[in-house]
Amino acid sequence: MATPPIATPDVSSTWSPREQRYSLLQRCRSLYHGLWFRLSEWIRWSRRPYHETPIGCLSGLASWQITRIDELREHYQVCFESHYGQHTALANYAYLDLLDRASTIAKQPIPQGIAVTDVGCANFWYARALQAFFRPATLTGVDVEGFRLYPTGYSRYDAARGYIVQLPHTSFVVANYCEMESRADVITAWYPFVTPSPVLAWRLPLRVFSPERLFERIARNLTAHGLFFMVNQGIEEAAIAATYCRRAGLRFIDQWVHSQPLRARPHPPVASWWTT
Ligand SMILES: C[S@@+](CC[C@H](N)C(=O)[O-])C[C@H]1O[C@@H](n2cnc3c(N)ncnc32)[C@H](O)[C@@H]1O
Repeated sequence: MATPPIATPDVSSTWSPREQRYSLLQRCRSLYHGLWFRLSEWIRWSRRPYHETPIGCLSGLASWQITRIDELREHYQVCFESHYGQHTALANYAYLDLLDRASTIAKQPIPQGIAVTDVGCANFWYARALQAFFRPATLTGVDVEGFRLYPTGYSRYDAARGYIVQLPHTSFVVANYCEMESRADVITAWYPFVTPSPVLAWRLPLRVFSPERLFERIARNLTAHGLFFMVNQGIEEAAIAATYCRRAGLRFIDQWVHSQPLRARPHPPVASWWTT
């Protein structure tokens, strides 16, 4: 049975992006990030797919983490550490753990062999976790910023190509999702921007911040009875995101707060399921 959403502050009265006035400092930072963003789009730097050096064996974990990872390994037949370094491998287990627990607790049956889109996938470092969970017919990761240059000399695009290279029917698309026509049976969004500060923290210009349009597009691109799975940072952010979902016409199914994620986070991840 669906649980009621977490005590939702009436964000409609406290948060109105249309009336949002950015401070001078925010506008300056946005302008600065915008210059780099535009430059990266113009250069579209790419060398070759970037592959992490596999750690082989995870270390420094608590016994509860080892137990849970063993369960996930067995159930989903995965071994992320044979593909990635410690950080990415553990983070993939953490995302898989969240998906697994959130769907079990919500008793949410997961359709198999369907089209899955992940919105705002960064370099799609967690594509393998999504593959393991959904076993999709197609998996598409979309991010508005594709060519950020890393200190390694590789771009986000190179990293994404490395993360998806061995995965079946998986692609990485550089696009503004607000403008994308792409139907999917399941859409996922991990930590989408719903307030402006994280946009600047991610070194992006504020012009990419358009949550109303983003959630409207998610609702529009979902097939009939499709599922939208969202993860937010903490209860407050989840409440703001829920308001956008409802305004976009999405229907709440269930929500779950992970109090002990495999990888520690500053706020507990809040997972929620929505439908059309
Ligand atoms: C907080 S990050 C989360 C990244 C990733 N989902 C994760 O869990 O590591 C939000 C991401 O959304 C992307 N993003 C923001 N607006 C977008 C849009 N309109 N279309 C596509 N991607 C967008 C950003 O570039 C950024 O990579």
